[in-house]
Amino acid sequence: MKIIGHRGASGYAPENTLPSFRQAIRLGVDMVEFDVYTLKTGEVVVFHDDKVNRTTNGKGKIESKTFDEVRALDAGNGEKIPLLTEVLDTINKQVPINIELKGANTARPVAEIIQRYIAKKKWSKELFFVSSFDHNELRLFSTLLPTVQTGAIFSYLPRRFWSKLQNSGIFSANINSRVVTKRMVKAAHARGLKVFVYTVNTERQARRMARLNVDGIFSDYPDRVSLLNGDAKTPQLLTLPLTKKPFAQAN
Ligand code: G3P
Ligand code: MG
Repeated sequence: MKIIGHRGASGYAPENTLPSFRQAIRLGVDMVEFDVYTLKTGEVVVFHDDKVNRTTNGKGKIESKTFDEVRALDAGNGEKIPLLTEVLDTINKQVPINIELKGANTARPVAEIIQRYIAKKKWSKELFFVSSFDHNELRLFSTLLPTVQTGAIFSYLPRRFWSKLQNSGIFSANINSRVVTKRMVKAAHARGLKVFVYTVNTERQARRMARLNVDGIFSDYPDRVSLLNGDAKTPQLLTLPLTKKPFAQAN
């Protein structure tokens, strides 16, 4: 079971900031997850909420702010909201990354940035994994960059769950821990899909997920949940073999 640092190691440092990502890597995660938005001025930043109110000293929607306005905010302990490129440069190929497309108009700039890192900075495409609750944005991403693996996120089980996913070309269903069941994991595996579960923060929950045979868990406290097998102590590439066709070609 892979351990994925949720917003870095957000139990230990301000979420989605550079110290949080450094801490996750120190704790030996298999992958780091974070969320992105596109600003009014076009930059892609790493941030979770649609408003800056909860995690910074500012107010208002992140998408309606300029880069200068965002950089003036304190995201916790004096940290700045980072650009996607700053996070990539900090992680610097040490572990694979899961970019969650949170905002609208993120698929295109994220695909461009990933392409640039693959072409110019020699990142392998396996270091990238892109997910979203917004399956249209995810589909657009797959059209633009079909070689990068994708995960569709679900907070509940929608109708036609499996028909939406079967033969969709996506790599995984990323599911809320409250709704995941053993049967669901079995059904996903039978259709060639991986299952990643968010957010798992106790050893007890982690053991339950291991029993359900899930492929990975997102955690704010990666060290607490990696006690299970110890394999998260050794950073390793999460292998993301290509599925038959990109998500874009799904029905
Ligand atoms: O991708 C898993 C998890 O990050 C989804 O929920 O709200 O923490 O981005 P959220
Ligand atoms: Mg997320």
